[in-house]
Amino acid sequence: MPARIRTAVFPVAGRGTRFLPATKASPKEMLPVVDKPLIQYAVEEAVAAGATRLVFVTGSSKRAIEDHFDSDPGLEHALASSGKDDLLNTIRNIVPASVACIYIRQGEPLGLGHAVLCARPAVGDEPFFVHLADDLIHADEPVLAQMRDQFNAHGHSVLGVETIPVEQSASYGIVAVETNDAGHHVVRRIVEKPKPADAPSNLAVVGRYLLTPRVFDKLEHTGRGAGGEIQLTDAIADLLNEETVTAWPFSGRRYDCGNKLGYLKATVEYGLRHEELGDGFRDWLRTMSL
Ligand code: G1P
Repeated sequence: MPARIRTAVFPVAGRGTRFLPATKASPKEMLPVVDKPLIQYAVEEAVAAGATRLVFVTGSSKRAIEDHFDSDPGLEHALASSGKDDLLNTIRNIVPASVACIYIRQGEPLGLGHAVLCARPAVGDEPFFVHLADDLIHADEPVLAQMRDQFNAHGHSVLGVETIPVEQSASYGIVAVETNDAGHHVVRRIVEKPKPADAPSNLAVVGRYLLTPRVFDKLEHTGRGAGGEIQLTDAIADLLNEETVTAWPFSGRRYDCGNKLGYLKATVEYGLRHEELGDGFRDWLRTMSL
């Protein structure tokens, strides 16, 4: 029986320049989609998949993330004394009491692979999740839970993948897979941000990974790759020489909240699905002449 995955790593050190000036003093992971910041959706997904240790790899200007997941006695007191019990409950339960938050600083912005390597002391010698909060995925079963179930079935690393238009290959890690007799999609190649002509397929890795700790040994020796950064993709490519890595075409709808259009789409669709606001928002949208 494979080990339980108890640790999720959230690389949150990026500057979010695409959203300037909104992200000048506030982390991009704190951008709200309706009423929750992106990083809270990320944490909820990891907790739903069983994670009890959340490792945030942070950089400068990221204090708001720590504050968000910390208790705020002043605010709690104010809400309690004004009888706002629902809101009090909401802010008290942002993370369950059984979950530990660990913050590690990524001193230099050397890339996603480097960020993940920074988390090594907190993760230890266990399989772990990596979650990129930019990729918001609406799914009946949270994507990390889908991937955990795959891992429990075969014990190998799992990459969340999605079919993309091949013209967009230069924005993603792209995998070539082969389906084995058991129906698992075994990764044969993985390339970071290839030009469409060089892409081994149109299957892109999106921001969900379940990795064995061996990837840390690979990251220790990974040099700078695409964009001059230490790439997680390159370490996974190295891992393929030693271990089976699988791809999981998750079910769910992904919003690329790393760019403004994707973020707007997420805001509209999450707004439409929102329990309290959905109907009113839908009615209002219908009145707009587009
Ligand atoms: C990162 C990864 C890339 C992956 C993408 C998913 O790129 O390096 O392999 O496909 O996330 O969102 P980034 O978007 O940080 O440039």
